[in-house]
Formats: sequence, structure tokens, C-alpha cells
Amino acid sequence: MKAAILDILRQSAAVVSGEAISGKLGVSRVSVWKHIRRLQELGYRIAAGPQGYHLLHSPDALFPWEFGQREARIHYHARVDSTMNIARQLARENCPAFTVVIAGRQQRGRGRLNRRWYSAAGGLYFTIVLRPQISPSLSARVNFYASLTLVQTLQEELGVAAAVKWPNDILVGERKLVGMLSEMESEGGEVSFINIGIGINVNNNPVLQEPNAVSLKEIVGKPLQRRPLLEAFLDRLEQKSDQAVLPQIIDQWKRHTTTLGRSVRVVTRQAVFEGLAVDVDATGALLQQQDDGTLQVITHGDCFHGIPRSSVGSRQGRK
Ligand code: BTN
Repeated sequence: MKAAILDILRQSAAVVSGEAISGKLGVSRVSVWKHIRRLQELGYRIAAGPQGYHLLHSPDALFPWEFGQREARIHYHARVDSTMNIARQLARENCPAFTVVIAGRQQRGRGRLNRRWYSAAGGLYFTIVLRPQISPSLSARVNFYASLTLVQTLQEELGVAAAVKWPNDILVGERKLVGMLSEMESEGGEVSFINIGIGINVNNNPVLQEPNAVSLKEIVGKPLQRRPLLEAFLDRLEQKSDQAVLPQIIDQWKRHTTTLGRSVRVVTRQAVFEGLAVDVDATGALLQQQDDGTLQVITHGDCFHGIPRSSVGSRQGRK
């Protein structure tokens, strides 16, 4: 109903009477008024007078009714602990693929390797439920597909030249714009769901907690609407999702990464590896060349670029 009322108001440059809205939608004028009141409370500036209603301004809103055909699959929460927890619950309850859980803020936003992801107002925080019919061993490709798709979206929609840092961080220059976290459950040798959680610094100020982070607002020089960016990403992700599991996805990802060919340090829960990042294999693992020429295959971890050449090659310590 809110989507329909907003549609009518957006189509008219002039005031629209309550009677006209109730006639078009087949509901009472009192019901229209209640919805208008709720929209006003949610931040829509709607002038209400004896002649009717006039929409003056819509907030940078991520409410389900702003997502058109996707409305039923969008779950918006102004405040949550983590969108990962809600998405996991929904996925276990058999929600459809491409269900998206969005939060205005997260009180316990989760990062990789048990880190915290600070989630202040203005950022874009969401988890998307994917259900590819694949074996768990191929699941990393889906993460690579998601980060690649987001890099392409940023480039095509906003002209932002972003690149991926292995495995799935998105950087602009050397500063982190996007963090990505995924969770998978499988049954009988097949993936049941892969939930991909994405945090994008849009209008928030991440440098307060992360000096090496950057926001889109800082890059483009003005605040941005989050919904069009999210929709553009979801459109692309859904359109080509059958390609997510193809081996070629890793080749495409390689064209958008700044990790390969560099000296990197990779920190895992157990160890620290330093060496030259030479390739990523078909499963998404990083191949790192050690001093003696051998290749270390690293399946997960946090990767740091720009390790001085002198210290690269041999170090392989415990954390
Ligand atoms: C990282 O870079 O360490 C990954 C950060 C992932 C953050 C996102 S925000 C939405 C989703 N919910 C969470 O709790 N985490 C992910």
C-alpha cells in the first residue's frame, strides 16, 4: 500500500486529494491518512492540507516498498545485531534465493576472522541469500562473483575505479571501501545456501574506526542515495547468477584485482605468510611464491599489500 501511495504522489507535481488516492486504491480515506502519517514518521516529507497531499522529499530509504518487484524479498531493519544472523535464520527457514536483509545500523556487525564491522548510520549493510546448486568446494567462486559484480557496478554506475583485494575486499587506491563476509551451509554434498554479507562505506565516516578506509561520499564529493546503488548491484547479480559457478569467473576476477604480482602478507588464524602473490587457482585459493620458489596455497586469510621486498619470500611464522 505504501508503494502505491508513493507512486501516486510521485506521479503528480501538484497536491493529490485523499479522495483521489482512496478511489484509485480502493481503500478508505482514513486508511490513506494512516499510511501517510506512518510515511511522515519514517522521514518522508509529505505536506498535508485541506486540498490533500504533496510529496516534497523522500529520505535515502531502504524500506521494502521502495524496491518494486523485489519488495517481498527485502527485509529492512533500522537496527539489528548483524544482518548475517537474520539472513541465516531466514535461509534455514527456506526463504527464496535473493532474499536480502538490510540494516540501517548494526550493533554487532561482523567482519572476517572474528573482527568487528563498525556499522554507523549512512553505510550500506546487507546480507543476500544465494542458493546455487553446487558442491561446497566451489562456493568460493560465488564470493568472487559477488565482489566482481560489485566492482563492475561501482564503475558503471558511479565511475568509481575500484579493485578487488584477495579474497573479496574492495579498495579504491589502497583504501578499503567494501568488506565482504560469507557463510555457507550444505547438506548431502550440495550447498543449501551461501549468505554474502556486504558492508559498503557510503555516507558514513569509516576513518574514525579504520584509518585506512574510505567512503563513497569522500570519493565522489557528495552524499549518495544508497538504494539505487543496491538495486543496480542486485540487478547485475541476479541477471548473471548462473555464471557465478563457472571457472571463468576467477579469470574475470583476476582482471579486476590489484593483489596479483605484489608482495603480500596473509594472516590466517594460525599463521602469517609473506611472499609474492602469483596467481589464484580455480577454487579461489591464493598461490604465493616463497623464497625457495615453492608455492604456498592459501585458502583463506586477511591479505595485506605493500610488504617491503626485503622481508618477502621466506617468512612463514605462527601468529
Ligand atoms: C570484512 O571486511 O571483514 C567483512 C565485513 C563484512 C561486513 C558486512 S555488513 C553486512 C553483513 N553483516 C555483518 O555483520 N557483516 C556483513
